[in-house]
Amino acid sequence: MMPSQSEHQPFLPKDATSKESDLAHTHRSARSAILSNSLVFVFTSLLWLIVVTFALRASENKSESTGIDHGHRHNVTTNAKLLTCGNSTAEARDLGCKYDVFLNNWVPPPCYDEEWIAEYLEDNSWSAYADENLTQQLELEQMEDRDFYYTSFRDHINHCATMWNKQFWALYEERMALDTVIVNPAHTEHCAQFLRDASEVNANQATKTNVGFAGCWIRARIYQ
Ligand SMILES: *[C@@H]1O[C@H](CO)[C@@H](O)[C@H](O)[C@H]1NC(C)=O
Ligand SMILES: *[C@@H]1O[C@H](CO)[C@@H](O)[C@H](O)[C@H]1NC(C)=O
Ligand SMILES: *[C@@H]1O[C@H](CO)[C@@H](O)[C@H](O)[C@H]1NC(C)=O
Repeated sequence: MMPSQSEHQPFLPKDATSKESDLAHTHRSARSAILSNSLVFVFTSLLWLIVVTFALRASENKSESTGIDHGHRHNVTTNAKLLTCGNSTAEARDLGCKYDVFLNNWVPPPCYDEEWIAEYLEDNSWSAYADENLTQQLELEQMEDRDFYYTSFRDHINHCATMWNKQFWALYEERMALDTVIVNPAHTEHCAQFLRDASEVNANQATKTNVGFAGCWIRARIYQ
């Protein structure tokens, strides 16, 4: 049996009208293909944007869940080596540490900073006393062998103000040796609170200062 004409030329349009409408249909489907591809692209991009945003938010929340929580993030002591002065005057001397009247701590030699000690002493308020009434003045040699001594209110302000300056320059100049007092968040907060409260307390009150044993961070390389 002979196949019909249309079966021989199955893809040919039957007449001009249908040819035109097929052409229009082809344009429409090309356009809708572009449109649907674009939509897929937009939705996929949006999906990734949402996924990435939530992932970032989640990791931020993990480290910032309690306000100012500097937790276990990278800081200037990361990868640095810690030198210590032990726990007693005898141990500190054995380890070659020196008593720093500005820090009120024994410190390893690389962190004994004469320039800042001189800056601190310039205020002429630094004297230490054996009694709370600030009448029995101590010599430097007497200070370092004690567990504690008393200093004036002005000395405490001078200590905190000079520490702020020392801390700024140490971080600003990316110093290789950083004592454990300037990089101690708790000491910084103590000084900040002391200065905040300074105008409301009795300026005659003495500060009991405990002799401490600080460490010294030696940074191998800056921002490893
Ligand atoms: C600073 O970094 C060290 C080492 O990475 C870490 O042990 C220490 O907890 C960090 N300190 C703070 C206050 O985040
Ligand atoms: C200092 O002494 C305390 C106990 O008084 C001890 O827990 C600590 O490990 C000692 N630290 C050093 C560096 O010797
Ligand atoms: C400190 O001075 C006050 C009066 O100015 C006096 O009452 C007090 O006994 C003194 N304390 C000491 C430990 O000397």
